[in-house]
Amino acid sequence: MDLYEYQARDVFEKYGVPVLAGIVADTPEEVRAAAEKIGGVVVVKAQVKTGGRGKAGGVKVAKTPDEAYEAAKAILGLDIKGHVVKRVMVAQGARIAEEYYFSVLLDRANRSYLSLCSVEGGMEIEELAVERPEALARVEVNPLTGIDKDKAVEIARAANFPEELIEKVSDVFVKLFDVYKGEDATLVEVNPLVRTEEGDIVALDGKVTLDDNASEIRHPEHEALEDKDAADPLEAKAKASGLNYVKLDGEVGIIGNGAGLVMSTLDVVAYAGENHNGVKPANFLDIGGGASAEVMAAGLDVILGDPQVKSVFVNVFGGITACDAVANGIKGALETLGATASKPLVVRLDGNRVDEGRAILAEYAHPLVTLAATMDEGADKAAELANA
Ligand SMILES: Nc1ncnc2c1ncn2[C@@H]1O[C@H](COP(=O)(O)OP(=O)(O)O)[C@@H](O)[C@H]1O
Ligand SMILES: [Mg+2]
Repeated sequence: MDLYEYQARDVFEKYGVPVLAGIVADTPEEVRAAAEKIGGVVVVKAQVKTGGRGKAGGVKVAKTPDEAYEAAKAILGLDIKGHVVKRVMVAQGARIAEEYYFSVLLDRANRSYLSLCSVEGGMEIEELAVERPEALARVEVNPLTGIDKDKAVEIARAANFPEELIEKVSDVFVKLFDVYKGEDATLVEVNPLVRTEEGDIVALDGKVTLDDNASEIRHPEHEALEDKDAADPLEAKAKASGLNYVKLDGEVGIIGNGAGLVMSTLDVVAYAGENHNGVKPANFLDIGGGASAEVMAAGLDVILGDPQVKSVFVNVFGGITACDAVANGIKGALETLGATASKPLVVRLDGNRVDEGRAILAEYAHPLVTLAATMDEGADKAAELANA
């Protein structure tokens, strides 16, 4: 999960990373009040989970509360790379002398951590890495020892910080690593980390990615950071039922067991769709190992809740969960859903106890259910029904 800048700011503050005052606001009036409270020059900053806000007009300096009010009017509602701004942060304005870059991240390829650092911050780091790679220090960080004071000094030196700043910036690097470790993050990035005219080192922007695998058990408090409004409502519903669901843009709902089978089902349906007016898969949904009536009902309920869906393809390969159990699951789901199940269902079963499974559905003879013998046939039938 990526955090918003204001959430990153709060986490930084908790770990003693120097940050400036910041207040979130959802309306221009709230922004004016926040600017009055902070006093002096403030910066109104779009809170969206994407970078390059400055360039897109999402970061504006305001000298007075009225200017902040006007800035908020311009920023709220702005579309930044497909993210519509619903909230801003009013930040205390810094008098910037220099902008630096610092990050620490999980380096999967090397099974290690990596710190990137540069005295040329502010610009997008991807650009810097391409245009002036020599200006970007890359220092491996041993996950067992992390960024202690020695390592932090090594990073600051590698990035060519002047000798008189090494002490101060390295202290901040150690604290940023405390954030990384303490919160089980996979990325902590500060761009820019600045030196102010007053000589302080301050994190002016923050990006933190938390490791979702750690959240449930090690950080139950992270749940409160989740942005439930921004999540797709169907995805939120699926998550609440413990389903692996991703909404896509097509018309054929997909249910399968096992991520690999579901991925290939998406391909086969997209391919079959070419003969049926270009219909496409509407989602990814892996119901996993068990295919009980409850899981099947929850899955169908999510998919049928998508108004774009015109037909559903259930593609299950019976393994430990045998096909007869899946067939009973489908039957139970249709009974549970009743009139909610209003779209045609193509079912392809294969594998363990396939004959029993097919027999159950054949005998059930539900008017919406069509049995398909193969995956290709099922995909074609589902695409055809979606286009009908
Ligand atoms: N509190 C602040 N005070 C003064 N300048 C700021 C402040 N916050 C951001 N800026 C300036 O705006 C630029 C862009 O802001 P930043 O938070 O990095 O957004 P983004 O990376 O999304 O463009 C920064 O590089 C900095 O020059
Ligand atoms: Mg930035």
